[in-house]
Order: sequence, then C-alpha cells, then structure tokens
Amino acid sequence: MPQNLQLAITAFGGPETLKLQHTDIPEPQDGQVLIKVAFAGVNPVDAKTRAGLGWGAEKIKDILPWVPGFDVAGVVVQDSTRFKAGDRVAGRIVEGGGYGQYLCASADVLSRIPDGVSFEAAASLPVAGLTAWQALELAELKAGEKVLILAGAGGVGHFAIQLAKAQGASVYASCSAANIDFVNGLGATALDYAVSPLEAQVNDVDVLIDLVGGDVGEAALKSVAKNGRVVTVPTITADRIIAAAKPLGIDVKGMLVVPKPEQMDTLLTLVQEGKVRVEIAKTYPLEDGVQAHVDIQTGRTRGKLLLEMPE
Ligand SMILES: NC(=O)c1ccc[n+]([C@@H]2O[C@H](COP(=O)([O-])OP(=O)(O)OC[C@H]3O[C@@H](n4cnc5c(N)ncnc54)[C@H](OP(=O)(O)O)[C@@H]3O)[C@@H](O)[C@H]2O)c1
Repeated sequence: MPQNLQLAITAFGGPETLKLQHTDIPEPQDGQVLIKVAFAGVNPVDAKTRAGLGWGAEKIKDILPWVPGFDVAGVVVQDSTRFKAGDRVAGRIVEGGGYGQYLCASADVLSRIPDGVSFEAAASLPVAGLTAWQALELAELKAGEKVLILAGAGGVGHFAIQLAKAQGASVYASCSAANIDFVNGLGATALDYAVSPLEAQVNDVDVLIDLVGGDVGEAALKSVAKNGRVVTVPTITADRIIAAAKPLGIDVKGMLVVPKPEQMDTLLTLVQEGKVRVEIAKTYPLEDGVQAHVDIQTGRTRGKLLLEMPE
C-alpha cells in the first residue's frame, strides 16, 4: 500500500510548525468517499488556526498534530453510492485534511468537476467561492444596488466582485495600486485605499462586504447608507464591527461559510462557461507548504494559493 504524505500543524506557532508526516491511507466510513487529492486550497484561516487563533484553533487544540486544508479537488479512488472510481470531485471539507495525498470526505459535500474545469480552478472555489456567494446572499444584494467589497483582489473578493456584477449590482472594491487593473478587469470600480479614505471615494452604499475586518472594516462603515446592510466576514473581529455599527443604525451580520454542493455546482458551471474567472497567484508543492503559509499571512495574495500533492 502506498503511504499517505500529509503536512500537519504539529503545535501552535509560526509556519515552521508545519511538518510532513506519513500515515496510512484512510478507510472510508459509511457515506464517505476516498479521494486522491490533486490540489488543496490555502486559506487565511489555515494560517490563523496554525497560529492558535480563532474558532479553528479552539476546535483542534486537543488533537494536534492536525492536517489543515478545507478545499480539495481530486479523484475518487473507490466506487461508492454516489461516485465511481475515477470521478473528478471537489468540495469544502469541514473537518480539514486537504493538505495530504488521500482524504476521506462525506459524499454529501462533494461536487463533480465538469469537463474543461481544471483541478486547480476547482480547488480554488470551495471556501473562497462559497464565502463570496453566501456573503452576498446574507446581505440580500439586489440588482441595481451599490455594493462595496473590501479586499477585492483576494481569494474571496475576486469571486465576490464577479458574482455581484452578475447579479446586476454596481460594484466598488478596495485594493492597493498594484491591483487596480486586476480589480477593474473583474468588473468593479477599483478604489485605491492608499489614495484617500474610502468614504471620500464612495458613499451611500447599500451593501458592504467586509473581507478585512478590524480598523479597516470599522472605517468602511462610513461609506454605508443609513439603512445599508453589512456582512463582516473575518470572524475574529466580527463582534467589534457589529458593536461599532449599532449606534450608526447599520445592520451588520457575521458569517461562517458552510458546504453547499449545489452552490459549488453552480460555481463550477460558471467557471466552465467562462463566466467566472479563477485567479491563482501561485501553486506550491505540498513540501513547500511552509512557504505558502508565509505568503498567505502577508495578506497580499492576489486570488488564490494552492498546494499540489505529490504523485
Ligand atoms: N467567516 C468565514 O467563513 C470566512 C471564509 C473565508 C474567509 N474568511 C476571512 O475573510 C478574509 C478574506 O479572506 P481571503 O481568502 O479573501 O483573504 P486573502 O486572499 O488573503 O486576501 C488578500 C487580499 O487582501 C487585500 N487587502 C489586504 N489589506 C487590505 C486593505 N486594507 N484594504 C483592501 N484590501 C486589502 C490584498 O489586496 P492588496 O494587496 O491590493 O491590498 C489581497 O489581495 C480573511 O480574514 C479570511 O480569514 C472568513
């Protein structure tokens, strides 16, 4: 039996606490599918969890070493009720484990990858694409409304711009000077946050999608219309943004992305039809996952970072 190479968080701390380990190939339980992973997404939550922060760290603190990775795309190894060996699948894996060659996942959270969609694109979609979708849904964005998306160039932001635009909204998105062309190219009006405060560049927005949180999220409330709606996505500062918005009469909701295979199916179809573009900044071999964590935690990623599993 070939062994299963994984990259695990061995202790809370810096990227160097990620270590390669060999384990047995897992056995699928009832309702599960064994997947040979091709690519896994790297998300900010992976680095926050590794650093011992947030809900992720709370969940795993007693079960280290733990293998991160909530986004996977790969091939089904054995026939199961819903899938056949050889099917290409992708999904949002709540339990993590994507940073490894093999993974057992509930069949209920998996989507088939359509022809013409690469494993790389499919692995980019689960957390970032579903978060973008679910944030816009929670904000009840409607056609014709004005939406401001903070961090339009990031993993979630670049999908949120495209989905909001497709819904017929008028889309503004903040970014640095280096990402102005990229963000404009996705269909938004790019706002360079270093030039002047955002409220001097856009105001009276119906919806704010806050993908930065903290001071930046709080300051952006100044751009929101009196009866505007806000979804603040970073969980660590959500309570703070909700509290800051209360005296302003602005409704703010926090969220936690959930697997929704039917939404994933639609996202995959949009990619297949060329209606949603997937930006991949860099792909690292699994063995270079430490560098991927160094890079994701700069907060400067354009689009997505991926890990490629060894054969
Ligand atoms: N609650 C949930 O379920 C959930 C799900 C997914 C993500 N999240 C959280 O949501 C946040 C965004 O996730 P992500 O995957 O999109 O992160 P990401 O890909 O790491 O975001 C990087 C982007 O942030 C931009 N950025 C950094 N500082 C900025 C600022 N002050 N103003 C505007 N843009 C700024 C950068 O653009 P520039 O270089 O141009 O500044 C970069 O393109 C993270 O905190 C993540 O943990 C939460």
